[in-house]
Amino acid sequence: MQHFAIGLAGMGNVGAGVFKHLTQNRALLRERLGFELDVKKIALRDPKKDRGVAVPPELITTQWQDLLDDPSIQIVVELMGQKEESLRFMLGAIERGKIVVTGNKALLAEHGREIFEAATKHKVPVFFEAAVAGGIPIIKSIREAFIGNHIQSIHGIINGTSNYILTRMVESGLGFAEALVEAQEAGYAEADPTLDVDGWDAAHKAVILASLAYGFWVPTDKIFVEGVEQITANDICFAKKLGYSIKLLGIIKADAKGEIEVRVHPTLIPEKHVLASVNGVFNALAVHGDIVGDTLFYGRGAGQDPTSSSVIADLAEAAAALQAPRSNYGFMPHGLYGTCTPIDDIVSEYYLRLTVEDRPGVIAQVAGILGSLNIGISSIFQPEGDEGAAVPLILVLHKATHGQMNTALEKIGALECVKKTPRMIRVENFA
Ligand code: NDP
Ligand code: HSE
Repeated sequence: MQHFAIGLAGMGNVGAGVFKHLTQNRALLRERLGFELDVKKIALRDPKKDRGVAVPPELITTQWQDLLDDPSIQIVVELMGQKEESLRFMLGAIERGKIVVTGNKALLAEHGREIFEAATKHKVPVFFEAAVAGGIPIIKSIREAFIGNHIQSIHGIINGTSNYILTRMVESGLGFAEALVEAQEAGYAEADPTLDVDGWDAAHKAVILASLAYGFWVPTDKIFVEGVEQITANDICFAKKLGYSIKLLGIIKADAKGEIEVRVHPTLIPEKHVLASVNGVFNALAVHGDIVGDTLFYGRGAGQDPTSSSVIADLAEAAAALQAPRSNYGFMPHGLYGTCTPIDDIVSEYYLRLTVEDRPGVIAQVAGILGSLNIGISSIFQPEGDEGAAVPLILVLHKATHGQMNTALEKIGALECVKKTPRMIRVENFA
C-alpha cells in the first residue's frame, strides 16, 4: 500500500487533535483512501509540554526547517498560527514542491495572493478548509459544489468565540469577560483573543470566502469590521423586545455592477431567521447562488475536533492530488469582479441606542437631524431605565448609507440632550 509522509508544524490545540484523530481513525482512513497517511515529523516549541496525546519523541523537532529539509515529506500541515514564520514555512514548502494544508486564516487573508501565486508557479496545491468555520466544509462547497454558480450573497456566523460569548450572555447572564475566559478554556479562541472579539478573525474568514467566491484577493483595508466587545446586556435585551437577536455576522455580497461588499459587525437579525438560532460555538453560513438558490451550512466553528476533521479531509485530498496532479492549486483567480464597494456607500438598516435627558422635545431634535439627512425612522421606543436624569431611547432606522449614518451620529452625539456617545448596531432583515 502507498504511504504519504506528513510534516506537522504546530502541536497545539488543533495540531494535537489532528495527530490524535489520524491515529485513532487510521484503519478507517486506510480503508476509504487506499493509502496510508504517516506523520513523519512534528515541529513545536516546547518538547516538555503536555499535549493530551502520546507522541513518539523521535518525531519531534523544535525546528520547522527540519520538515522542509526532509525530502521524504510530501505534505506539510501549517498549524503554528504565526505570521512571518508561518509564511516563510509555507512558501518554503511550496518552493520545494510540498503540498501545504493550513488553518491559518489571518495569513491567507493578508498574504493569499502571494501564497497562491507561488502555488501556481510551482504547481503545488494549498488546502485550507480549516481556515473558515471549523468543521463545516464551506471551502470545498464554494470551490467545487458551487463552481457553476455566481455567488450572490453569503451571510455567516463565522466566529465561534464571539457566538459563544453572546450566547452565554443571553442564556446565563454571564459578563463578557467571564464568557471569553470560558471560550478560551474550551480552545475556541485564537492565541490572541483580541482577534475574536474585535471582529478580525471573522473578517479574515470573510476575506477568504469573498476572494474564493469572486476570484480576486479582497484587500483587508476595503472591508468594514467591528467586533462584539461593545455589546451590552441592555442591547441584547432591547433587541429582544424588538424581535431581534444580536449576532456577529459576516456579510458578503456582489451587486449588479460586480462590486463586492464585505463587512463583519454585530447585527440585529430577526428572531425568526434561521441564523438567529445558531448558538454557542456553532457557526452557520447561508449561501445564495444564482443556480442553486438558498443553501445553509451548520456545524461547530471552532475547537480541536471539528477543526481536525477539516484538516484530515485536506490531508486526504492532498494525497489524492499527489496521486493524480490537478490544474487548480486551491484558488482560481478570475476577472468578472475586482472592486469593492467603498465602505461609506454600504447600505444597511440600523438600531440606535441613545442616552438622553428625560424631557419634552428630545425626540423632535433627534428626528430632525435624521430627517435632514433623509434617514427614515421605522420605530422608536423608550424602555424602562434610570441613569440619573437620563433615559435610554431606542430607534430603528430605515436603509441609509454608512456615510449618512456617520454624519447623523456626529450631529446627534453633539446635542446637549444626548448624554453619552450614541450606540449604533446594524440590522439585517435579509430582504
Ligand atoms: P495553538 O496556539 O494552540 O498551537 C500553536 C502550535 O504551534 C503550538 O504547538 C506551538 O508550539 C507551535 N508553534 C508556534 N510557533 C512555532 C514555531 N516557531 N516553531 C515550532 N512550533 C511553533 O493554536 P491552535 O492550535 O489553536 O491554532 C493553530 C492554527 O489553526 C491557527 O492558525 C488558528 O488560527 C487556526 N485555527 C484554530 C482553530 C481553533 O479552534 N483553535 C480553528 C480553526 C483554525 P508549543 O505548543 O510548543 O508552544
Ligand atoms: N477563534 C476562532 C473562532 C477559531 O472562535 O471561530 C476558529 O476559526
